[in-house]
Parts: sequence; C-alpha cells; structure tokens
Amino acid sequence: MKRLLAVLILLSISLLGCSSANSQEKLVENDDLDEVIDMLLSNELLVPLGEVPIPEGTPMTPEVLELGKLLFFDHRLSGNNEVSCQTCHDSELGYGDGQATFTKIDGALGLRNSPTVINSGFYTTLFWDGRAESLEEQALGPIQDPGEMNQPLDKLVDKLKLIDGYEELFLAAFDDGITIENIAKALAAFQRLIVVNETPYDRFLKGDRNALTSEEIRGLDLFAGKAFCITCHNGENLSDNEYYNLGIDSDDEGRFAVTGDDRDLGRIRTPGLYGITHTAPYMRDGSLETLEEVIEFYNRGGDNHPNKSIFMTMFMSELQLTAEEKSDLLAFLKVLGGEPPNITKPELPGLK
Ligand code: HEC
Ligand code: HEC
Repeated sequence: MKRLLAVLILLSISLLGCSSANSQEKLVENDDLDEVIDMLLSNELLVPLGEVPIPEGTPMTPEVLELGKLLFFDHRLSGNNEVSCQTCHDSELGYGDGQATFTKIDGALGLRNSPTVINSGFYTTLFWDGRAESLEEQALGPIQDPGEMNQPLDKLVDKLKLIDGYEELFLAAFDDGITIENIAKALAAFQRLIVVNETPYDRFLKGDRNALTSEEIRGLDLFAGKAFCITCHNGENLSDNEYYNLGIDSDDEGRFAVTGDDRDLGRIRTPGLYGITHTAPYMRDGSLETLEEVIEFYNRGGDNHPNKSIFMTMFMSELQLTAEEKSDLLAFLKVLGGEPPNITKPELPGLK
C-alpha cells in the first residue's frame, strides 16, 4: 500500500508537469514532443530492462543451461510421458499455449491461462497468485500437479536415471548429479534465458530520442500519465510485483489462496508486458483476445467483482480515451512485443 501511495504521488507530480501534453491537442509541434520526451526520460518509474537477476546457488554454466533446455522439452518429465513444459509454454506461441485456459492432462479445461515464461526471471513471485518465490520453487509445481504433468517427484529421479545419457549430463552440470533440486535449478536457469529486451522502448529510455515514433511516444505518454497504466506496470519489467483485482468477473480466489486474507480475494500479480504481442489471449482467465480488447477493458474501468481494487473504481472508471489515444497506446504496447528468442526442440537423450 505504501508503494502504491508513492506511485500515486509520483504520478500526480508527472501529471501536473505534463498537463499540456495530456490535453486533447495533437503533438505535432516538435517543441511539444521534445518536452514530452524530456519528461518521460526523467520519469523514475520507467526503467530499461537490465540483466536478469541470478540467485545464489543456481550456476548459469553452459552445462546447466543445456540440461535445463533438455528437461524443458522432455515429455518424460510427466507421468504419462506425453506432456513437457513446452506443451504449455511453446516458443511458437509466445511461450504460452495460445489458449484461454490450459488443457489438463485428462483433456478437461484448467482454471487459468498458461502465462508466458518470457522475462519470468524478473518477477519476485511466480504464478498469477504469486504462490512461488523463485523459478526454482515454481518448476516443481507443474511436474507434480495431477492436472498438469502428474509426475510424483520421488519417482522422477529414478525415472531419469534409467534414461541413457541423463546421469552424465547431470554430473557435468552439478557435483551431486540427478536430484530434485538440480532438476529445478536447471529448469530455472534455462528459463532465465527466455528474455525479451532491448526493444525500441529500452533504447529510448537509454537516451535514444529517435528510437520511438511520435505515435509510440504519445502512447508511452498516455501509459505513464492519463491512462494510469504505470501505477502498476512500472519498473524494469513493467510489473510492480503487487496484486490487484481489476474487476474480472470470476470466482478465481487469486492471492487469497496464498494469504487467506479476504482483501486478497481475486487479486492477481501484475504481469510484465514484454513480449505482449506474442502472448494472446490475455488475463489470467484468457478472457480478452486482443490488446484492443485489453485497452477497451481498462477504458471502461474494468468489469465487476465485489472486491474490485479501489484504484480501478476511482481512477480507471473515467479514462475516456479518444479513438486516437487508444490507437497511440496500442502502438506503444506493440513496441514491447519485441522478439522472443527462437529456441527449437533439442535432440533428447536416450531416444535413439
Ligand atoms: C498443462 C500445462 C502446463 C504445463 C505442462 C506447464 N505449465 Fe507452467 N504454467 C501453466 C499454467 C496454467 C500456469 C499458471 C498457473 C497459476 O498461476 O496458477 C503456469 C505458470 C508457469 C510459470 C509462472 C509464470 C509467471 O508469470 O508467474 C512458469 C515460470 C512456468 N509455468 C514454467 C513451467 C515449467 C518450467 C514447466 C515444466 C516443468 C511448466 N511450466 C509446465 C501451465 C503449464
Ligand atoms: C491497478 C493496477 C493496474 C493498472 C492501473 C493497469 N494494470 Fe494491466 N494488469 C494488472 C493486473 C493485476 C493484470 C492481471 C489481471 C488478471 O489477469 O486478473 C493486468 C493485465 C494486463 C495485461 C494482460 C497481460 C497478460 O499477460 O495477460 C495487459 C496487456 C495490461 N494489463 C496492460 C495495461 C494497460 C495498457 C494499462 C493502462 C491502460 C494497465 N494495464 C493498467 C494491473 C494493472
């Protein structure tokens, strides 16, 4: 809450400072545009993406990364030997699965959308409700989950030992060979490579005033001002790592499942926005199919939920973006899409 207040104060300062830029006038004058650029470049909530943080104890050596890649693509990590991480985090579908909600191992529909793993190394908590504290902790979730990979962990080590090649690969990567912890570390290390960075937005923030078109700059100005997006999508991965209920009509308990606090009912961790053009559909229930729909959703102040965040009711309900503003905002969001790495399926051990 303290953080939100700080953000609001910063926001009101920047809104005061840019009242002319936020009027209905078009920014055709170069002088105006220069002023807006100066203001954006001095906004402390806009930070270019830096290096992904690496926790102590997870070595990012070539051996560990190669092993992590094999495990990510290996369907034998699942109970029925058919589902791999890649099944739901497909490099050709923006490292998600392109569906509104994921398909369970028995074919039924799951509750939540498979989020992209792009830039997941930048979050301080993982999952839509933030129930894991690191990628290492996160990785073991889907493997054991009866609906996802349904593979009891105690049997996984023995299973991998029986696959020709894994023992050597693990020993090359870790002193103690195949263990549950090392499976998690290798998967986490590999995912830290799945990054979208150095977009024109990052180049702009690093001082290249020509990196964005004037339309994109107007969009960023809206993002950081009149449209309030920056209140929650801020900092280097454009997520404040906090939880909000945008008013999506759903009985998903959200953060409440972790804290048991009524105020957290339906609250979801703010997702980052890098890679966003590749990861439709949007929101934790995949209910919005396009970025245009996302903008319309915010422009009407979200939908209805008894625990809708006050910020949504107070500030987002009156956005009243014009058609042109919506299209500028969209142009800016598209810049964040960037180019996700193209990682193809490696040859898996023991399959020859
Ligand atoms: C059957 C589909 C499925 C499989 C298989 C699967 N995931 Fe996921 N993944 C999901 C869903 C759905 C979520 C969101 C769950 C939630 O928040 O409750 C998720 C969340 C994540 C997240 C969190 C991203 C974020 O923004 O917080 C990461 C990282 C991740 N998965 C990595 C993996 C890894 C590694 C594997 C393999 C060990 C894997 N997933 C296997 C569907 C899947
Ligand atoms: C009050 C905090 C808050 C504000 C303000 C906010 N967002 Fe979000 N945003 C979130 C949260 C939380 C989610 C995930 C909600 C869910 O799935 O229930 C989200 C989801 C999104 C998504 C979908 C991401 C995905 O991977 O599915 C996009 C795109 C997005 N926001 C863009 C914007 C834009 C553009 C604005 C400004 C018009 C904005 N947001 C304002 C908190 C916020």
